[in-house]
Amino acid sequence: MEYDVKKIKKLINENSKIAVICGGPSSEREISLRSGKNVLDALKRLGYKNAELIDINKNIAQVLLEKKIEVVYNAMHGRFGEDGCMQGLLEILEIPYTGCGVTASSVCMNKDYTKNVLRNFDIPLIKSVLVRKEEDYAEKIKDLKFPLMLKPVSEGSSLGMFKVSDEKEMEECFKKSLEYNQDVLVEEYLDGKSLTVGVLENRNELFATEILEFRTKTEWYDYEAKYTAGMTEFILPAQLSAEMTEKVKNIAVKAFKACGCRGVSRVDFLVSDNVPYVLEINTSPGMTDLSDLPAQSKAMGINYDNLVQIILNGAGLNK
Ligand SMILES: Nc1ncnc2c1ncn2[C@@H]1O[C@H](COP(=O)(O)OP(=O)(O)O)[C@@H](O)[C@H]1O
Ligand SMILES: [Mg+2]
Repeated sequence: MEYDVKKIKKLINENSKIAVICGGPSSEREISLRSGKNVLDALKRLGYKNAELIDINKNIAQVLLEKKIEVVYNAMHGRFGEDGCMQGLLEILEIPYTGCGVTASSVCMNKDYTKNVLRNFDIPLIKSVLVRKEEDYAEKIKDLKFPLMLKPVSEGSSLGMFKVSDEKEMEECFKKSLEYNQDVLVEEYLDGKSLTVGVLENRNELFATEILEFRTKTEWYDYEAKYTAGMTEFILPAQLSAEMTEKVKNIAVKAFKACGCRGVSRVDFLVSDNVPYVLEINTSPGMTDLSDLPAQSKAMGINYDNLVQIILNGAGLNK
């Protein structure tokens, strides 16, 4: 489907004081600074002359008030920017902001909470259990089949994730996964295709972008594959039957709605044995030149600036 970019109209006026917030203390700080810079450049090209970049710190509330910021474009990733904290602060300050609100952000930051919500909506999910930091995993995982995938429940970038083949490996890998000081989601490991698909909301219209498929030289889409040039082949649009393409897009939109997301998100999938399993929802997807969402959008005729405009139009929807 080609998306009609003519429908994208500017809602916020060209004199609006817009803050693109980025940075912060998260492990994805550097990516966020790059996302923020790119978004700001796009806003300037779109004619928003009073847009500026703010690398957030503890004084952010004061800074936003002193600068009389009218709209916030959220280009933060991970801690504070993607977990509901900044969203809560902006609610208190009564400044409209882009993307998801407090609840959707905090639910989607946690892969187990996300799955607990999606379970009520008939969305395929891989069998998993949550093992709390202080718990003994043996009893909890007894109904799961090896190999298993361990995931710190609120991390990203495949950090702290381990594929575990048997009980012997489990002890060591569980310990390593705990170094992230979080509860651990233990999921059955499935062989399959890794996919990701954007979901955007323009005015009241919700739609999925093209689907991006990752083929990695490593066994699965781990940190090395994500951040080493040449380790991953990107296939866009993903090589799927027309039927599976529709199914993945529909499930992505359904998952977005189920978690109460607004404006923008990116849903990650693993397709195994012809079943599209949802892995997680990223509520503040990367916006660098190499990020997934800009590529997925471009593949359906939405260039970077139009994408930024659509996301900006979503400011205040999350009320
Ligand atoms: N249960 C699983 N079985 C096989 N591969 C998986 C499984 N869970 C995740 N993966 C692979 O690891 C990648 C990262 O997992 P994901 O849950 O999206 O976490 P992150 O927040 O680190 O992106 C996925 O894109 C997929 O390729
Ligand atoms: Mg992911």
